[in-house]
Amino acid sequence: MARVISIVNQKGGVGKTTTAINLSVYLAKLGRRVLLIDLDPQANATSGLGIDYNTISIGLYEVLLGPNSLRDVTSPGPTENLYIVPSSQNLAGANIELVGHPEREFRLHNEILNIKPDFDYIIIDSPPSLGLLTINGLVAASEVLIPVQCEYFALEGLGQLLNTIGLIKEHIKADINILGATMTMYDERNKLTRDIFEELYRYFPHKIFRTVIPRNAKLAEAPSFGKSIWHYDAASVGAKAYQRLAREIDFR
Ligand SMILES: Nc1ncnc2c1ncn2[C@@H]1O[C@H](COP(=O)(O)OP(=O)(O)O)[C@@H](O)[C@H]1O
Ligand SMILES: [Mg+2]
Repeated sequence: MARVISIVNQKGGVGKTTTAINLSVYLAKLGRRVLLIDLDPQANATSGLGIDYNTISIGLYEVLLGPNSLRDVTSPGPTENLYIVPSSQNLAGANIELVGHPEREFRLHNEILNIKPDFDYIIIDSPPSLGLLTINGLVAASEVLIPVQCEYFALEGLGQLLNTIGLIKEHIKADINILGATMTMYDERNKLTRDIFEELYRYFPHKIFRTVIPRNAKLAEAPSFGKSIWHYDAASVGAKAYQRLAREIDFR
């Protein structure tokens, strides 16, 4: 049965999508069967893996609000063992359209139940909000991974995120485990980093990954070529970091 890991932070630009893509690729490289679900209407994980957003006729929207199953919309990814459920253009409307749905928080969870035996990992890339799409991703998850950018204001909003996860555990689904926080875009020359680490530790005692993702130009360039960091530059420090993170997660 798959471990379902939702990558969540309602702040934009903190490295969720970069982590979703590259973690998925490196878990697949470890021989695990991985499904990456792009839950963000901006479809960055979809395009970042070289899938043209405009050619998608059915995607996640048609699963959440239409007649399709996840199997109908799953396509093979760029590497063996990796599969992708792309976002779709009309997914942006889902946040609103789901409101009237009788099982609005459980749509993704219910669909994932049918495919859980097919994979070792299901990785969910979330949009930068705490709206119904993100809630669907959290309710579907067994574990939550929180990327935190090493910048001033990085910890803003984390209280609200933990509060949301707490409410979901209490009222909707008890078994969501916080897998941990991972520091992204780490720059060792930046003095703030140490302070951020210490403050982060207060939020997530014993839950900060040993692996820190450095700020690395190759990681930023790769998606513009529609490639994961493994395909773009496997020798880069960014690639090595995501490889380590995948091993660390697979070990837990
Ligand atoms: N470790 C990194 N080093 C350099 N650039 C990065 C790194 N991680 C992400 N980026 C870049 O920062 C931007 C935001 O990252 P992204 O993963 O899209 O964040 P999110 O999904 O949280 O909005 C993107 O342009 C991405 O290429
Ligand atoms: Mg993103």
